[in-house]
Amino acid sequence: MPHIKTKPFNREILNYHQEFNDFITFRATDEHEELWGICYEGVEFLLHLKIDSDGNYLLKYDKVTRPLKVELLKKSIAILADILKLEILSANIVSYKTKAPLASMYQKSIKDFENIEFGTQKVSLEVGFGSGKHIVYQATQNPDKLYIGVEIHTPSAQQLLKQIGLQNLTNIWVVNYDARLLLEMFASNSLEEIYVHFPVPWDKKPHRRVISPSFLTQSMRTLKIGGTLELRTDSDRYFWYALQTFFAYPKIEVKVHKNRDLEVVSKYEARWRRQAKDIYDVWVVSHENSPQDRRDFKFDFDTIGYNNGLKNTLPSESQIFEEYFIHFERIYSIVGGGWLLRVAMGSFDRPEHKFILMTPQEIRYMPSPPVATLTNYHVHQKLQEFLNE
Ligand SMILES: C[S@@+](CC[C@H](N)C(=O)[O-])C[C@H]1O[C@@H](n2cnc3c(N)ncnc32)[C@H](O)[C@@H]1O
Repeated sequence: MPHIKTKPFNREILNYHQEFNDFITFRATDEHEELWGICYEGVEFLLHLKIDSDGNYLLKYDKVTRPLKVELLKKSIAILADILKLEILSANIVSYKTKAPLASMYQKSIKDFENIEFGTQKVSLEVGFGSGKHIVYQATQNPDKLYIGVEIHTPSAQQLLKQIGLQNLTNIWVVNYDARLLLEMFASNSLEEIYVHFPVPWDKKPHRRVISPSFLTQSMRTLKIGGTLELRTDSDRYFWYALQTFFAYPKIEVKVHKNRDLEVVSKYEARWRRQAKDIYDVWVVSHENSPQDRRDFKFDFDTIGYNNGLKNTLPSESQIFEEYFIHFERIYSIVGGGWLLRVAMGSFDRPEHKFILMTPQEIRYMPSPPVATLTNYHVHQKLQEFLNE
């Protein structure tokens, strides 16, 4: 991931550089590091500035706010290095000229799904598409259906976007996000299929598994009547865990198949086949006509004011409530006044990390509000109480 290591430089210079006013929107510091709010080509993200053990400076990307286009990070770091005339010791920001990303219109952000309605358009979702072989195959076979692929791993998302461009596909959307959160954004009864092929088993951290009771509930809500959730796995343990999860659901139709041949074999599947491993398919059919969820939640901070003493009032321990938690992980003070908070929050099995920017002029999530779920709305209400204290 993009970064540069430089000799130390006078950071105060940033305060006087006119060129930076729209580019670096703020600087925030705590005892360990400095964060720069960057706005570049209309995209907002953060860069970290750390001092290493030799006293040199390391300028690098931030995981939580990282944009999908790595080029934006590389270019913004290169611009900073150029304007500040930094003495670079090592770098990883070489830009390779690639063809204009034809597929970028097929790249969607979580915000694009707020209150989305598909009307008569048939829509399927693939969770964790990896190399994208299966979703590309499906999209090619069913040109009238829209395939939404959600993948948490950014390079895989980029690879699929490239494939879409190369094969001139027009019916795939790519979302680089946690599928467990994205699923909550869909309207009830809107999906034909949900594919989960070879999910990471997470044997030691089961709470990170994609399949869970809440994922099943959301799948049953978002699938149309007759729609299927399709799990394909090579893991005996995951297979039995999934069956147990599915059968705990009050009313359910489950079908199971062993060693079924698919028209398309992914990289993972090919590996398991070479090892003569058993492969299990499990289908769960939805028979629910689910009521629509409320999805028009607001995530603004209009009812609270700037709190100059915030740092002294926020709890340092995780705050655990019945269905969610809030943890104020880091509190940075903004040069010139204000606070930048890094917060871990949300449901226990699918938490989000967010930044909250609080200055005398504005209070907002950065770069975007949490996913608009009922749980996150409750989290947001509680957060306001903490910020208002
Ligand atoms: C073992 S790979 C399987 C890839 C592909 N489905 C296949 O059959 O080859 C699992 C994929 O799921 C993705 N993944 C894991 N957790 C995820 C989540 N919560 N949301 C979206 N993708 C996830 C991983 O990044 C990885 O690409």
